[in-house]
Amino acid sequence: MSGGSVVVVEELVKSFGSGAGQLVAVDKVSARIEPGTAVALTGASGSGKSTLLHLIGAIERADSGSVLVDKVEVTKLGRRALAEYRRSVGFVFQRYHLLPALTAEDNVAAPLLPFRVDFDKRQRARELLDIVGIGDRHTALPSQLSGGQQQRVAIARALIASPRLLLADEPTGNLDSARTTEIIDLLLTLRDTHGMTILIATHEQDVATRCNQSIHLQDGRIV
Ligand SMILES: Nc1ncnc2c1ncn2[C@@H]1O[C@H](COP(=O)(O)OP(=O)(O)O)[C@@H](O)[C@H]1O
Ligand SMILES: [Mg+2]
Repeated sequence: MSGGSVVVVEELVKSFGSGAGQLVAVDKVSARIEPGTAVALTGASGSGKSTLLHLIGAIERADSGSVLVDKVEVTKLGRRALAEYRRSVGFVFQRYHLLPALTAEDNVAAPLLPFRVDFDKRQRARELLDIVGIGDRHTALPSQLSGGQQQRVAIARALIASPRLLLADEPTGNLDSARTTEIIDLLLTLRDTHGMTILIATHEQDVATRCNQSIHLQDGRIV
């Protein structure tokens, strides 16, 4: 994990539907995110936070505009390069999305399972669980873990590809305020120790004020 990505978004547009039912979810958004910073993406529900994260992570394709990550024009990548780019980005979701039948360490290692790597995947998973503070629970199933612990597993899983960019979509949306503080502490520590760039969608002002910068969306536009 060496350094963070610089992300430059220019005139990005994404709409859903067509004709009278068309909805512009992201409307000509331009922004620059400096490497090694944590940026909060704020705005009411439906303001376009998730869609913007999906465009940056290339989970969805923009209608127009560009996403540049470390000078790579993500919006122009072919299928193979796009898959590789997606794997290089870490994603954390509100609902953790852990596989219920797998232990914590197997959930963390899961993204690497299809690939040949020159290290022990389980060993690396355990190291990451140590980093996120639950190394002692590596054999637990998700159902045996609290919400905050499950989110730590999900963060460890996001780290397995050594991302320079971490996209977190309301990562504390299901947690109480004490757990929220702990998870944000963890994300900011990862920024500081690994120099990672972190984008956090949130509607909690407390979370936003702890970040280096805030981007506020309203109806798909930066305000
Ligand atoms: N797959 C989709 N199909 C249709 N509309 C969508 C889709 N995804 C998001 N939207 C719409 O786009 C707007 C922005 O949604 P979203 O990015 O999820 O906002 P937020 O994450 O800020 O709540 C909303 O009006 C939402 O209903
Ligand atoms: Mg959302």
